[in-house]
Amino acid sequence: MNKQEQTICVFGGTGFVGRYVVQKLAHQGYRIKVASRSPQSAYFLRTYGVVGQIVPVLCDYSEDSIKAAVKGCDYVINTVGILYEKGKSSFEKTHETLPENIAKACAKENVKKLVHISALGIEDSQSKYAKSKLDGEKAIAKSFENHIILRPSIIFGPEDDFFNRFAKMAKLSPVLPLIGGGKTVFQPVYVNDVAEAVKTAIENKEINATSKVFELAGPEKISFREVLERIQAIIGTDRAYISLPFWLAKIQGFFLSLLPGEPMLTVDQVKSLQSDNVESGKSPSLQDMGIIPTAMGLVVPRYLERHVAGGKFAASRKSAKV
Ligand SMILES: NC(=O)c1ccc[n+]([C@@H]2O[C@H](COP(=O)([O-])OP(=O)(O)OC[C@H]3O[C@@H](n4cnc5c(N)ncnc54)[C@H](OP(=O)(O)O)[C@@H]3O)[C@@H](O)[C@H]2O)c1
Repeated sequence: MNKQEQTICVFGGTGFVGRYVVQKLAHQGYRIKVASRSPQSAYFLRTYGVVGQIVPVLCDYSEDSIKAAVKGCDYVINTVGILYEKGKSSFEKTHETLPENIAKACAKENVKKLVHISALGIEDSQSKYAKSKLDGEKAIAKSFENHIILRPSIIFGPEDDFFNRFAKMAKLSPVLPLIGGGKTVFQPVYVNDVAEAVKTAIENKEINATSKVFELAGPEKISFREVLERIQAIIGTDRAYISLPFWLAKIQGFFLSLLPGEPMLTVDQVKSLQSDNVESGKSPSLQDMGIIPTAMGLVVPRYLERHVAGGKFAASRKSAKV
């Protein structure tokens, strides 16, 4: 069957990672269903394909609506995830029950493969986020044999919530917090490489025989402090650093998560920072999938330009005046 005759359902396609996955798969020619709580928020994705190729469908993440979304699909991708719990959004519902129901629907509807985005370092972390991600992986493994789990480190890209958040903070705040002394090490991975890994997991049959779990990490290991230093160098700020022990950051996280809206920091996120987020070497990597990971330096400076004081052309304007 050619790709134009195969349908892929993407849960969470409106999100940061999901949109790159939709774009990548649409460029391959697949028909895409984007299952979303608000399909109108997925309309922008239709421009990634030809007319009618990408179709947003309503999914309230109940068992019935998951089944309806999965019905008739050849492949299913799950990129749904949350970073903190708020109101009715719990880690258990989003990271355990939802993937389990998706996996069960895949089994019932004879889907060829389910690709699930999990997270790196979840076996060593004490956070509730990590525990729920790990339990979600186990639930999938129990419910549907033909699955691939991808575990990315922190993901970077134009719409990311990590580099952009700290760049904004560096612009506005007089000091930058170094939680736990800024020693936590990450191995940031490019969002387009994650999308490429999803495509490979679907298309490369040999890879499937290798492992069920793949660790997706970039070419560099970098500490939290070094991340902040790089961001400051790119956007041209020189804020001082203030070291914040984990216990103090947890107290701060507790109070910040009581505020309305998206919390700046939660206790659980501080717990996540207490262990490094790097490849364990226990599972195959991006390279084992035949993908050369992209360096941060090639991508991050381009999209952080928008945070440069006075705008991206500030430096050239200044030199023009001289
Ligand atoms: N971003 C990273 O650095 C990173 C690192 C490691 C792992 N991951 C994992 O990669 C996956 C994708 O991450 P992402 O950054 O692309 O996530 P995201 O943009 O925050 O969200 C993905 C999608 O999840 C859906 N969703 C379902 N229930 C939700 C709820 N209660 N609250 C908010 N959104 C909800 C939303 O789709 P609808 O509104 O259309 O329903 C949303 O577009 C997740 O599983 C995440 O855990 C991400």
